[in-house]
Amino acid sequence: MPNIDQLLEPAITICQDAGRLIKAIYLENSYQSETKADDTLVTSADIAAHHQIIAALKRLSPEIPILSEEDADIAYEKRKQWSSYWIVDPLDGTQEFVARSGDFASELALIVDGEPVLGVVYGPMQDVCYFAVKGNGAFKRDSGGTKAITVQQHHQHPAQVHIAVSRVQKLAILHSGLDPEFDYRFTPLGSASLKSCLVAEGKADVYVRLGPTGEWDTAAPQIILREAGGDLQDLSMQPLSYNQRESLINPNFAALGDLNLPWLKILAGLERR
Ligand code: IPD
Ligand code: CA
Ligand code: CA
Ligand code: CA
Repeated sequence: MPNIDQLLEPAITICQDAGRLIKAIYLENSYQSETKADDTLVTSADIAAHHQIIAALKRLSPEIPILSEEDADIAYEKRKQWSSYWIVDPLDGTQEFVARSGDFASELALIVDGEPVLGVVYGPMQDVCYFAVKGNGAFKRDSGGTKAITVQQHHQHPAQVHIAVSRVQKLAILHSGLDPEFDYRFTPLGSASLKSCLVAEGKADVYVRLGPTGEWDTAAPQIILREAGGDLQDLSMQPLSYNQRESLINPNFAALGDLNLPWLKILAGLERR
């Protein structure tokens, strides 16, 4: 069993270093991209961050295996024998990176006995880092220091519910005529991990995404959300584990009481890769 507390600060540094590497490539605006077998984009920034994180994690904890989105072909049969492993998304928000919206992140999590116990999400353009260790609370670190974060606790009228959406969802909403009927407030942000962290820090009440998502998308957000008083749920409001791929909703339980669920499902369906 790894000493999780001792791994936290080095894991934060590794995640931030990867984010800074991606930021440098982004600002230079010189990268190559190609389409993967699953029809999604991958860039040389994803790959460079992947190699940097893998090398650093191997130095930090040579005994803990690593699963990265960019090296995800390790057979499940083999992986399920691992009692603990790192799970890495070197660049979360590749589409946003390519679209030059600045909304992307690096994220990593430590899984022990099938559960995320440590998670870090770092947005390099905002220079904001979210992190959590099981049982110790969730935190946000930026130029102003480190502070504990929690999901919104008070009940809101549905018309005031604040939904984290991506640029793609926002565009779809503007073109769909859905918006006027419901006076929800929207916070557009690219990557799944950054949107989840907006919920964790109480800046949004919900982020909704209809699958499939990768487990590297949801492992760090799940532990950060849990430690902030929220969690992942599916669209029937049932608990969802980071490695279930069907659908994903990161709610503030209290605020969601009166939410119009069919409408949320439409919103969820608007986000496509
Ligand atoms: C994707 C982004 C995107 C979300 C997708 C993810 P990637 O991750 O987080 O916002 O809608 O489900 O797969 O491929 O950019 O790391
Ligand atoms: Ca990807
Ligand atoms: Ca991702
Ligand atoms: Ca990725």
